[in-house]
Amino acid sequence: MTILVTGGAGFIGSNFVLDWLAGSDETVVNLDKLTYAGNVHNLAPLAGDPRHAFVQGDIGDAGLVAALLAQHQPRAVLNFAAESHVDRSILGPGEFIQTNIVGTFHLLEQVRAYWAALDTPAKTAFRLLHVSTDEVYGSLAASDPAFTETHRYEPNSPYSASKAASDHLVRAYHHTYGLPVLTTNCSNNYGPLHFPEKLIPLMIVNAQAGKPLPVYGDGQQIRDWLYVKDHCSAIRAVLAGGRLGETYNIGGWNEKPNLDIVNTVCDLLDELKPRADLQSYRSQISYVTDRPGHDRRYAIDARKIGQELGWKPTETFETGIRKTVQWYLDNPDWVAQVQSGAYRDWVATQYAQS
Ligand code: NAD
Ligand code: DAU
Repeated sequence: MTILVTGGAGFIGSNFVLDWLAGSDETVVNLDKLTYAGNVHNLAPLAGDPRHAFVQGDIGDAGLVAALLAQHQPRAVLNFAAESHVDRSILGPGEFIQTNIVGTFHLLEQVRAYWAALDTPAKTAFRLLHVSTDEVYGSLAASDPAFTETHRYEPNSPYSASKAASDHLVRAYHHTYGLPVLTTNCSNNYGPLHFPEKLIPLMIVNAQAGKPLPVYGDGQQIRDWLYVKDHCSAIRAVLAGGRLGETYNIGGWNEKPNLDIVNTVCDLLDELKPRADLQSYRSQISYVTDRPGHDRRYAIDARKIGQELGWKPTETFETGIRKTVQWYLDNPDWVAQVQSGAYRDWVATQYAQS
């Protein structure tokens, strides 16, 4: 048996592929465009492993996707591929529309054609799992209940709007064509292999480099943090037992203001790798211009996946963040490798006005 994973060289996709092959002998075909966020080095432990076939390519390349489906006959397709960084979507939405909407459309078309031609047992067993985000639900006020699966869609950034559009397409392919789909909407992930443009890895990397730790606005925006390996186990649970056409929210019951996150990272670094002058890394915190349209609060109600599929996270924020900081301390070569020229250009543009 085989699964086709898209975006499997990115942060969550590579964690998913590594975890999958640690627990199963089912072959993975990994289709990834290798944008700035895709990194084949994330998959280095799989070098020479016949259970993993990496293909560089675009989910929007209909001919390539059709050929891969025909050749490998997967029993499931898991779509992680996306442009994923909100700030980049604000500076330049085009790629987000192209990959997250148009790319997902082409992928759906090819999967639909492949699925329609399967024999009845294979057709019945087949699944398309679309990996999405809590950001499609918009922003919560402090006293609002957490997002359930029936919360209205109210995306606020080009990124979240493009993910919302992709969710709607996936839903429509189920209702119109009967395509056996599952959608997951997850909260903020953190953990190993996280590209250092996102809050937690950026803070870990900047702190050690003696650079400012840029906190947007008042730092009181709230995110609901989940260790990436727990997101991966939730996706496996939904793939195995999710009801067709359903969406499942995934979250860690871990709401925290950004400033608390940054302070926690500083405190762990103070303990694990103290500064030479023995001052706290907190002294590097710098308040900068807020993100335009910045969502104030996300929170996931993860009761449905817990009750229906028995899933729950294994890491608390305290255990997960300690593992994460330690992973970055143990892997300076990975950090140096991703900090390419293109990455430095992005940091210079994004933080120029602050
Ligand atoms: P990422 O940016 O780290 O990785 C995305 C991967 O997709 C990269 O390897 C990139 O090369 C690849 N890719 C981009 N465009 C492609 C295309 N057209 N064709 C094929 N591959 C392409 O993102 P991530 O953080 O790993 O997120 C993975 C998925 O999970 C995304 O769909 C994202 O919306 C969703 N998600 C992320 C989070 C989070 O906190 N990071 C939370 C919830 C949901
Ligand atoms: O909620 C799920 C989403 O989480 C995913 O769908 C996205 O793909 C993922 O990137 C993430 O989006 P966020 O915008 O929440 O993550 P980010 O790490 O960019 O920012 C987290 C919070 O920290 C947010 O409130 C903005 C703030 N921030 C971020 C950066 C990069 C700062 O204060 N300073 C920064 O330098």
